[in-house]
Amino acid sequence: MPSETVTADIHCVTKWSKLDTSWRGVSLDTLLQPVEATAEYVLAFCDGGYTSWSQAFGTDHEVLRGVGTAARTEDVHDLGAERVQAQAVANDSTGGGRMEKSLYERLGGVDAITAVVRAFEDRAGKDDRISQKFARTDLARLTKEFVDQLCEATGGPCTYTGRNMTETHADMGVTNGEFDAFMEVLVATLDEFRVGKAEQDELVSMLRPFRGEIVEVDSSQVGTALPSTFVPAPAL
Ligand code: HEM
Repeated sequence: MPSETVTADIHCVTKWSKLDTSWRGVSLDTLLQPVEATAEYVLAFCDGGYTSWSQAFGTDHEVLRGVGTAARTEDVHDLGAERVQAQAVANDSTGGGRMEKSLYERLGGVDAITAVVRAFEDRAGKDDRISQKFARTDLARLTKEFVDQLCEATGGPCTYTGRNMTETHADMGVTNGEFDAFMEVLVATLDEFRVGKAEQDELVSMLRPFRGEIVEVDSSQVGTALPSTFVPAPAL
């Protein structure tokens, strides 16, 4: 089968990128072209440990099983009586890629994220551990920026245009305890919306690394006052 070299940039929804990544081999499009089947999806197990599924392109198929070395993978495509073998494509453990639904899609898109953010703000405003910090905040701005940030970070079609996390939370005097409380309020909101455990864990893992940019006081104290020197962002 015709072999080709493909060079592409990988942009993972969790924000890492690997540029100019090359694969050599037979593309799945070519490999699957002669196959006639009625399945809607293809599931590929990559030698490097990745499992990937995607909607079948016109022709349909069931399972691709990758066997071989990282540089030269032999894929066996077995469809009952029909058996197609070909050189397929992989270079290293990052080469397989994961083509599952983005976290954005699994959360239910921008409307669901907006509903979660609004409910979160409601809870945060009533939670004595963190409510004081929001006393002078323009809520319309916070909603828009938080939605855009979550939408973009989870792989959605939004662009976050707000300030970075250090600038946003500067002089707010947020403690470690308040950061934890903020995350707990978020998880409680996700529970309220019956967001699955896997999606919750993914979102929390995405946000937790911001701790270093947000926390200014290394203390477990909660409910600390918003310093009078804090200058809130203007309304949009
Ligand atoms: C991972 C955790 C957090 C994320 C992702 C986050 C995200 C954001 C975003 C996107 C904004 C709007 C930025 C803008 O207006 O340009 C914002 C503002 C704000 N955040 Fe956070 N935040 C986090 C943690 C916290 C914590 C722990 C507190 C306090 C307990 C807090 C309090 C606030 C307040 C009061 C504002 C409004 C600031 C203003 O009025 O200018 N945030 N945050």
